[in-house]
Amino acid sequence: MIDGGEAIRFESVSKRFGETEAVKGLDITIEQGEFFSLLGPSGCGKTTTLRMVAGFEQPSEGRIFLDGQPVETVPPYQRNVNTVFQSYALFENLDVFENVAFGLKRRKVARDEIRRRVTAALELVQLPARSDAKPRELSGGQKQRVALARALVNRPGVLLLDEPLGALDLKLRRQMQLELKAIQREVGITFVYVTHDQEEALSMSDRIAVMDAGEVKQCGQPEDIYERPRGEFVAGFIGISNLLEGRVEDSGEVAIGNGLRIPAPLPNDCARGDAVQISVRPEKIAVQEIEPGMVSLEGRIETRVYLGVSTQITVSLGDGARLVALEQATYRAQADDRWEVGQRIRIGWRPEHCLVLR
Ligand SMILES: Nc1ncnc2c1ncn2[C@@H]1O[C@H](COP(=O)(O)OP(=O)(O)O)[C@@H](O)[C@H]1O
Ligand SMILES: [Mg+2]
Repeated sequence: MIDGGEAIRFESVSKRFGETEAVKGLDITIEQGEFFSLLGPSGCGKTTTLRMVAGFEQPSEGRIFLDGQPVETVPPYQRNVNTVFQSYALFENLDVFENVAFGLKRRKVARDEIRRRVTAALELVQLPARSDAKPRELSGGQKQRVALARALVNRPGVLLLDEPLGALDLKLRRQMQLELKAIQREVGITFVYVTHDQEEALSMSDRIAVMDAGEVKQCGQPEDIYERPRGEFVAGFIGISNLLEGRVEDSGEVAIGNGLRIPAPLPNDCARGDAVQISVRPEKIAVQEIEPGMVSLEGRIETRVYLGVSTQITVSLGDGARLVALEQATYRAQADDRWEVGQRIRIGWRPEHCLVLR
């Protein structure tokens, strides 16, 4: 629940390690109660960004504000921030309850209050029955729940999560993603979530900053990033395939080189002759069943791969240009084996589903 106040503000923050520019000119404001993700490949500066918020690193340039206050002189333990790591970092010799209670004990919170808060935190992460267990007796997913409870019990203003689900298998990850999102809604704490998994970021976040080599390439809501990626890096990272190189024509169409001209929603500042890339997502491409108003092209089926819930068809348009279409399996009889490799076929899409990138 975003209440509008700012939780974290980065003002022109950069961080250098010797020659390496780990973070460059970061200018972002994260709102109170927001689920904000930093998304990008390994080495793009995500962890360094979190460590600067936590106070484990100082920016080389720029300033960070927590709750509107500059924090350069505030040591890590005085920042209203907690971190959850991929590696859990639990105390192996303490049981679950003691792990979660650790921070409260150190702050000399009263015993009854500790019991109450630890119990509530373990209920929140759905682990109340394991409070006597030692970390080595727990599964990876359970350990991460303990680490989460240990951070939440301190009621930080901001929770920093550095690839917290990275060590879990896919099925558990998907389940934990939903749970984490539900927990965040329930507690209303600002989450800054680091991941290199675009699906994870898309499914959990209120907003996402996509990073590449220390820079934020785009910051926006998941729909913005997915439907309107800015530039080739974001498009590629967010999983856009089907890029066709082309040139803007007088007619407002894009020529893709083999005599084909494709109507596309061009940005206003596009001029004739500009090199652009256009893309249509595989799931937006209709095969054979072309509706009125769709852009439609003829091609030849190059490959056909059965994927269970869908079938992936690669259609050659000639001159090396090809598009991948995904056909969802349906209730229709024999829907999955309608096409054969080598067959000529029509594909189409709604003009608004064509993306223009520069
Ligand atoms: N303590 C450090 N000393 C030197 N280089 C570092 C240090 N921490 C990170 N880097 C470098 O900074 C860049 C960003 O690293 P990091 O923030 O860990 O990226 P990510 O978390 O996105 O994988 C990388 O090139 C990394 O090698
Ligand atoms: Mg990292």
